Amino acid sequence: MRFNKILQLVLVLQLETLVVLSQNIINGSVPVGESLTTSESSSWRSPSGDFALGFRKITPNDGFTLSIWFDKISNKTIVWHAQAVNTTTGLVPNGSKVTLTKDEGLVITDPGGQELWRSLSGGSVSRGRMTDEGNFVLFRDADEVMWSSFENPTDTLLPNQNIEVGQNLSSRRTETSFKKGRFSLRLGDDGNLQLLTLNAETVSESDIYSTYYESDTNDPNSPGVRLIYNQSGYMYVLQRNNSQFVVKKKDEETSKDVYRRAVLHFDGVFAEYYHPKGGQENSGWVFDWAVPDNICGNSDSLGNTACGYNNICSLSNNQRPRCECPKRFVLKDPSNEYGDCVPDFEMETCGSKDNQTVNSDVNLYEFITLKKTNWPFGDYESYANYDEERCKASCLNDCFCAAVVFGNNRDLRCWKKKFPLSHGERNPLGDSDTFIKVLNRTIADGRLITEKSSKNRGWLIITCSVLLGTSAFLNFIFLAMYKKKKKKTSKKNQSRDISVATATANELNLRVFTYGELVEATRDFKEELGRGAFGIVYKGILKVSRGSEVTVAVKKLDRLAPDNEKEFNNEVKVIAQIHHKNLVRLIGFCNDGQSRMIVYEFLPHGTLASFLFRRPRPRWEDRRRIAVDIARGILYLHEECSEQIIHCDIKPQNILLDENYCPRISDFGLAKLLMLNQTHTLTNIRGTKGYVAIEWFKNGPITSKVDVYSYGVMLLEIVCCKKAVDLEDGVILIDWAYDCFRHGKLKDLIEDDSEAMDDMEMVERYVRTAIWCIQEESGMRPNMRTVTQMLEGVTQVHDPPNPSPFCSIFTCTDESMSSGHVSLV
Ligand SMILES: *[C@@H]1O[C@H](CO)[C@@H](O)[C@H](O)[C@H]1NC(C)=O
Ligand SMILES: *[C@@H]1O[C@H](CO)[C@@H](O)[C@H](O)[C@H]1NC(C)=O
Ligand SMILES: *[C@@H]1O[C@H](CO)[C@@H](O)[C@H](O)[C@H]1NC(C)=O
Ligand SMILES: *[C@@H]1O[C@H](CO)[C@@H](O)[C@H](O)[C@H]1NC(C)=O
Ligand SMILES: *[C@@H]1O[C@H](CO)[C@@H](O)[C@H](O)[C@H]1NC(C)=O
Ligand SMILES: *[C@@H]1O[C@H](CO)[C@@H](O)[C@H](O)[C@H]1NC(C)=O
Ligand SMILES: *[C@@H]1O[C@H](CO)[C@@H](O)[C@H](O)[C@H]1NC(C)=O
Ligand SMILES: *[C@@H]1O[C@H](CO)[C@@H](O)[C@H](O)[C@H]1NC(C)=O
Ligand SMILES: *[C@@H]1O[C@H](CO)[C@@H](O)[C@H](O)[C@H]1NC(C)=O
Repeated sequence: MRFNKILQLVLVLQLETLVVLSQNIINGSVPVGESLTTSESSSWRSPSGDFALGFRKITPNDGFTLSIWFDKISNKTIVWHAQAVNTTTGLVPNGSKVTLTKDEGLVITDPGGQELWRSLSGGSVSRGRMTDEGNFVLFRDADEVMWSSFENPTDTLLPNQNIEVGQNLSSRRTETSFKKGRFSLRLGDDGNLQLLTLNAETVSESDIYSTYYESDTNDPNSPGVRLIYNQSGYMYVLQRNNSQFVVKKKDEETSKDVYRRAVLHFDGVFAEYYHPKGGQENSGWVFDWAVPDNICGNSDSLGNTACGYNNICSLSNNQRPRCECPKRFVLKDPSNEYGDCVPDFEMETCGSKDNQTVNSDVNLYEFITLKKTNWPFGDYESYANYDEERCKASCLNDCFCAAVVFGNNRDLRCWKKKFPLSHGERNPLGDSDTFIKVLNRTIADGRLITEKSSKNRGWLIITCSVLLGTSAFLNFIFLAMYKKKKKKTSKKNQSRDISVATATANELNLRVFTYGELVEATRDFKEELGRGAFGIVYKGILKVSRGSEVTVAVKKLDRLAPDNEKEFNNEVKVIAQIHHKNLVRLIGFCNDGQSRMIVYEFLPHGTLASFLFRRPRPRWEDRRRIAVDIARGILYLHEECSEQIIHCDIKPQNILLDENYCPRISDFGLAKLLMLNQTHTLTNIRGTKGYVAIEWFKNGPITSKVDVYSYGVMLLEIVCCKKAVDLEDGVILIDWAYDCFRHGKLKDLIEDDSEAMDDMEMVERYVRTAIWCIQEESGMRPNMRTVTQMLEGVTQVHDPPNPSPFCSIFTCTDESMSSGHVSLV
């Protein structure tokens, strides 16, 4: 058995080495009509085999790039790639193909035959050639060069590849993102060789931000005409009077027998390397030279160079920068350590902070110390002859002040800075220290929750279910019938119940608020954050201790809350025991006789609704993850709590996003809580139009399948980034989605979302799953466990039937308004 396996393996390995050689390519010459695909590991090699052209798989992203690389080096370093391919990632999907055509030279097509990139238009190419210099050249009939990779460089310069006036190299976006980045090396029309940062949003050469290196060869009498790089590693700007401005001296020591390359790295450093040829492969690329000397120190007052806002740059090996967020700051995009850093706390603002005197507030903020760190821009005040303590105190007492830089030299200068901090640099030779003002964590963690439950991030804020208002129509709550029961609470039994509540809360580390406390916190319910099926949510600020405070939001339950305090308390207790990473946490409540309010943790990134319906649309990858996470959260409510919880109001406005953009479901448990007294028959219908299942309007039993229905609608919204009911377009998403599915036109659903386009298999799986979920017949809908399995690909998803064979949800709702009897099981 084992021997067989080994034999198989050997065969496979041999097969692979065989495939690499593409037979029709003789001496690097490629005939018109030849093609390469991503799935075979073949390539077009130069005569010596030093260079090859073909597709390269780019990890960790799922995609390929058409590239030229050093083929005899174990790392197969890429020196050129097809830039500006027509996909969002800059990569092409598996199954793509490059063909050498007569009219357009190299053409990349995706598996569906759609053209993604071409080298030229309207030519008459006779053949291509991969040269031993690393240049891929397209020839017209004779030997006339029509196009070459050397003349269309990306981020790398090879020996004998020159840069002419007006040409440029451009960096990648990150080491593994082959989209165009924001750095450019350019020989300008005036003959000056410059390293430039471009506007980070447009990354267009016509939108130059700043210059961080230049050759100064722009004398009008003898401007630079060409950047020349030769096999000795010599790089110079040739001037019109034949003078050579030396960019980089030649290497005397290194032998001729090396590979060379100069690359404009994604972090803005232009560096030159060599690599021994032949048997000494393991030595790898040797760093030879780079500009600028210190990319951290090069700066213009606007924008940033190597590291994003609030990010600190320090020099690492080979003049390359390293970026590091200060303590208490986190990367805005966790996958890009060169990006911006954002505070993990609420920054101080000078807004209307109610009557907070500076002095009682002093302990609320403290400083983090960054030794040998300077932020040379963003000053708004500067004082001489301040000592460090006075410098800090001055910042503490100033609500505008984000940080101070203190100069440890003779001048003892104190600079006040505002956010965002830019061009941060840590330099061991510097004489400045930075103190950034941050919220005092001890206080932020506060007494709001006891130690036991505050183990995670401290810094609590409280939230509401509906942060973003949608149109009144969408939030319309069906109240078919409503019977108000008279309050029977006597003063005596009220006070007893409050003591019960306190005991309950202590057990769970829940905080019990008095009505007065929440009135004060919300400034008499002044700022409304949103409205949901269960009540209105207000923003508030809780004083914690010693003048410190925490922003909160308070959900004021509407009149339907049960009259019985004890039952209310018991239910809140049940809700408070539910912990899952995809559910919002309950922090406290108020049960003060006439008012019931619930307080949740606050999540900084708002609702899924605001995330989903913004433009440009969020990334498909993130949407996929969010869809699966929400399904897990609902599954937990349905199957993994001690008592099944039906949410009854699943919709994007009730899904909040935490600091990592993880979705968290809010408002769970409230449906039951608010229906306590109506034992088995409901007299009102809860939920939001567009998301409610048909059984609400019929006399059928209400089961967890109502959530499955709402989830299905929401899943379509997540896939399409379109609202369930779009009044402007007049589109009913579920009908449209089914139509598209039925007619095999799923691409219409995702329009120009090329990331999703590249993942059609998954899109189709999600849409099928969603259509199963929105079946009118509740028995046809899968349960949440099956739904998660469908999404994860564990279960096959068959063709779903027409979800509403009898009527559309809207024709049904109208008649249902009068029927009004629904029962809860
Ligand atoms: C390969 O190309 C080189 C340079 O163009 C040429 O000198 C040589 O004769 C060619 N060899 C063959 C076998 O075609
Ligand atoms: C590309 O697709 C082919 C089949 O179409 C498959 O065999 C291969 O594993 C895929 N490659 C990658 C890297 O996904
Ligand atoms: C990019 O591709 C889309 C379809 O995938 C197409 O509609 C569009 O015209 C293409 N753009 C260019 C510049 O080729
Ligand atoms: C810089 O190079 C890119 C790609 O080669 C090209 O599209 C652009 O026009 C060039 N910029 C200038 C100013 O020539
Ligand atoms: C060419 O011009 C540069 C200044 O632009 C000057 O420094 C240099 O001496 C000139 N060289 C010759 C050979 O004239
Ligand atoms: C590179 O250029 C320098 C200066 O012109 C010259 O000394 C050297 O010989 C050249 N090297 C090669 C390999 O052409
Ligand atoms: C190959 O590349 C990896 C990652 O860039 C690097 O860590 C490794 O040192 C390289 N190996 C050689 C031999 O250059
Ligand atoms: C806060 O200040 C406002 C006016 O600035 C005043 O009306 C209000 O009474 C003050 N509140 C407290 C609690 O001091
Ligand atoms: C932060 O708050 C804690 C608790 O109130 C206090 O002991 C500490 O001194 C504060 N830190 C600063 C720097 O004020």
